[in-house]
Amino acid sequence: MQNTPTAGFTPETPLILGMMRLHDHPELTQPAKLADWVSARVDEGLNVFDHADIYGAGACERLFGDAMRAHPALAKRVRVITKAGIVPAGQDNSPWQVKHYRAEADYLANAIDKALASLAVEQIDTFLIHRPDPLLQAEDVAQILENAVSAGKVRQIGVSNFLPEQWRWLARNTGLPLVCNQSQLSLAHTGPLFDGTLEAHLADGMRWLAWSPLGGGNLAERISADVFDKAREETGLDETALAIAWLRQIPGTPVPVIGSMNPDRIHSSLRGAQSLLSRPLWYRLLESVRKTAVA
Ligand SMILES: NC(=O)c1ccc[n+]([C@@H]2O[C@H](COP(=O)([O-])OP(=O)(O)OC[C@H]3O[C@@H](n4cnc5c(N)ncnc54)[C@H](OP(=O)(O)O)[C@@H]3O)[C@@H](O)[C@H]2O)c1
Repeated sequence: MQNTPTAGFTPETPLILGMMRLHDHPELTQPAKLADWVSARVDEGLNVFDHADIYGAGACERLFGDAMRAHPALAKRVRVITKAGIVPAGQDNSPWQVKHYRAEADYLANAIDKALASLAVEQIDTFLIHRPDPLLQAEDVAQILENAVSAGKVRQIGVSNFLPEQWRWLARNTGLPLVCNQSQLSLAHTGPLFDGTLEAHLADGMRWLAWSPLGGGNLAERISADVFDKAREETGLDETALAIAWLRQIPGTPVPVIGSMNPDRIHSSLRGAQSLLSRPLWYRLLESVRKTAVA
């Protein structure tokens, strides 16, 4: 099926596929193999891939781009999110060798051009500032983001790991909407549901792209096997599907950015995205990770 995908993520997008661990999968480093994997996901209705310039020190964007270059028709079927603004210590060319942020106009403008070349796509669907940078000059940064959108290099913009006042300050400096905040949210990270962060996303129309929705693989250590067994009996869902169903039930329907590249786990995630948990089960899972009942 060759088609032009609808732009980016929509309220119906069940999952975004995170590419942070792509370089850890030797079986997918050949462009043809990765293209087959990407093509299978797109056929399942998953066409949004999440990158960042620092994933695998640049290797993840490059590997993905190699697959797209080898299969230009496939490149037209995918949508790509990417982020920039973090400089790891090992990539700091200064004598200080310090990890730092560069949400700086020229740096981000170059990062967008570099990402387009690495990923071999015609447009970055959504470009995110990876972390809030205390030195960010909002007017300058807003200007280069607007330029990138007018030039068609980027379709829309958002942020990652921003707190509400941090995204509001950037939003005040640009006429463009900030469409999303990509930040951590899962059964393993529930704090933002209890401190007003969730409501700020809803009030400001910021779509929540939830990273590490499977807790980076450590949910089994945090939720007792008894609870999982009972939940599986009640719902027929495995641990992965339960974690995703739990997340999707939150108001605003956060979009999980999953990091697993295992097709079985992706299928379970898809199943979870289509499932509804009873309210008592939702709270039992929450209680299990927090080790305490709600007040
Ligand atoms: N914006 C940011 O600052 C930021 C930060 C971190 C991540 N991200 C994005 O979020 C994406 C997802 O992050 P993530 O990879 O931490 O998410 P995740 O989906 O929570 O974790 C995926 C990892 O957990 C393992 N896993 C999941 N369930 C498991 C189970 N039941 N048993 C054993 N292992 C299990 C997977 O292994 P298998 O491969 O074997 O399934 C994989 O290594 C990244 O790719 C990136 O795109 C963004």
